[in-house]
Amino acid sequence: MSLFNKHAFIEKNSIVLVVGILVVVSIGGLVEIAPLFYLDSTIEEVDGVRPYTPLELAGRNVYVREGCYLCHSQMIRPMRDEIERYGHFTLAAESMYDHPFQWGSKRTGPDLQRVGGRYSDAWHVEHLINPRSVVPTSVMPGYPFLAETPLSENAIRGHLEANVMVGVPYTEEQVAAALIDMRAQANPNDDNVGDFQERYPSAIVRDYDGNPGEVTEMDALVAYLQVLGTMVDFSTFDVQSNLR
Ligand code: HEC
Repeated sequence: MSLFNKHAFIEKNSIVLVVGILVVVSIGGLVEIAPLFYLDSTIEEVDGVRPYTPLELAGRNVYVREGCYLCHSQMIRPMRDEIERYGHFTLAAESMYDHPFQWGSKRTGPDLQRVGGRYSDAWHVEHLINPRSVVPTSVMPGYPFLAETPLSENAIRGHLEANVMVGVPYTEEQVAAALIDMRAQANPNDDNVGDFQERYPSAIVRDYDGNPGEVTEMDALVAYLQVLGTMVDFSTFDVQSNLR
């Protein structure tokens, strides 16, 4: 009996066919699922990706609270039009410390994954206070209150602790200094800037909102926007060969 005839036997007997399907699906399932039980992570690590500083994390919380993700994605697809407009497509490692991730599925405004460094801090502040002052046709709402709202200080340490619980590798020292670090990053004259920079060597200390007297929600949000997409050095990546 040829192999083809054996197949005809399976197809004509529904019970045998169901058993056959189960066997094949189980093999596929085992191959795909079993490795996940012993692999620590399925994300390939990429140089440069680090946990957010306390100020950036606080800014990220403002971003989530205000629902910026309802109009902005943070996920660049590997297609030519996206890459030419936004830059290198998103790598899994870039959101490995994002809880919850902000990939999004809706773009009323542009993707923000690589907006860091594209505009000055002053542009962001103007734009967030009144988008029409810098982009006359914008339909984005203004968030002027961010510049007047002092950044809440009592929850930041808890935010770092919660991130540690879900696997973000903050050290005990970083958690303990969360509040000090949050203040230091927004004020170049702060006494703790040196210690902060030892804890987060690649982070940028700046008075992000142009108001040195106070750390506001605007400082935090702009610090977050300015770090987006800047952690990985893409000059070493070959974008063209990865294009579909
Ligand atoms: C109702 C939809 C909407 C919401 C909500 C919204 N935006 Fe926007 N955003 C837009 C649109 C449309 C644009 C493009 C026009 C412009 O630049 O203002 C834009 C542009 C931007 C840009 C400039 C991007 C670029 O590459 O030019 C940034 C940065 C930005 N938004 C940040 C934010 C942040 C932060 C929030 C939350 C506090 C937010 N947006 C909320 C619609 C929105």
